[in-house]
Amino acid sequence: MDVPETVATALDDRPVAGKRCLEAGAGAGNATAGLLANGAARVYAVTNDRGHALTTRRRVGDGGGDDGDGNGGDDGDGNDATVDDRLAVLEADLRAVPLPDDSVDLITAHGLCNVLDPAALSAVAAELSRVAAPGAHLVVDDYDPLPDDAAIRELFAVENAASELARGRPALTFYPAAFLRRFFAGHGWEFERERTLLEPVPWTESHVSAHADEATAMAGDCPDESGDALAAAARRLAGEIGSESVGRMYGLAFRLPD
Ligand SMILES: C[S@@+](CC[C@H](N)C(=O)[O-])C[C@H]1O[C@@H](n2cnc3c(N)ncnc32)[C@H](O)[C@@H]1O
Repeated sequence: MDVPETVATALDDRPVAGKRCLEAGAGAGNATAGLLANGAARVYAVTNDRGHALTTRRRVGDGGGDDGDGNGGDDGDGNDATVDDRLAVLEADLRAVPLPDDSVDLITAHGLCNVLDPAALSAVAAELSRVAAPGAHLVVDDYDPLPDDAAIRELFAVENAASELARGRPALTFYPAAFLRRFFAGHGWEFERERTLLEPVPWTESHVSAHADEATAMAGDCPDESGDALAAAARRLAGEIGSESVGRMYGLAFRLPD
């Protein structure tokens, strides 16, 4: 199981072994892979995206168990040879996590907050605080806002414009580390430490083209000609940018009082 260096660094001073863990926003399952590799007793990987749930299951192997969603274990895709009984992938909204109060000891939000607008961030933080047991740990890894002269900012602006017009909310919000420190403190979490995980952040050609694809897909749902203009801008910017190394990814760690 391949664990990215950012995840390994974010977890290496956290007590994972033997703990009940929640990966909030499973995405590609990177943090789930890190939690299992570090000896977690149980990992709930939660995402609202069916494709991401499948990716995480295939990557790590979902043992099913007590998630109650009926889609653990053999999901019929023929890829369950490497089942890990400690993992349950839950397809659910983090604004209503399908877990009881005080039921997890460690939560990761690795690259999650930037895809949550402020209203969603507030609702998700309240849920994470609810399911966390007294003394639980929280790891929040994300990106500082990009500098004004970063070329990729313009592509993200186009993606956000398409998202606002198509769905009524931004696709991406880059919260400063200092903001999330105070924000989670407001939800009862005691700040423990901050680390730099990447600086500069390598936005590779595949990241850039994935964001251009996302912007183009949402542009298809925009009214009138605005969508055509945004799709054209996304494609042009992706071609011009190629790849860019800029900005910082940070790792914050918190703990709930016992
Ligand atoms: C950028 S990915 C996170 C990367 C991942 N943590 C990793 O380490 O590979 C963000 C994930 O959060 C999920 N997500 C965003 N909003 C959500 C919500 N309200 N409820 C559940 N999942 C959500 C997305 O579907 C996606 O799976």
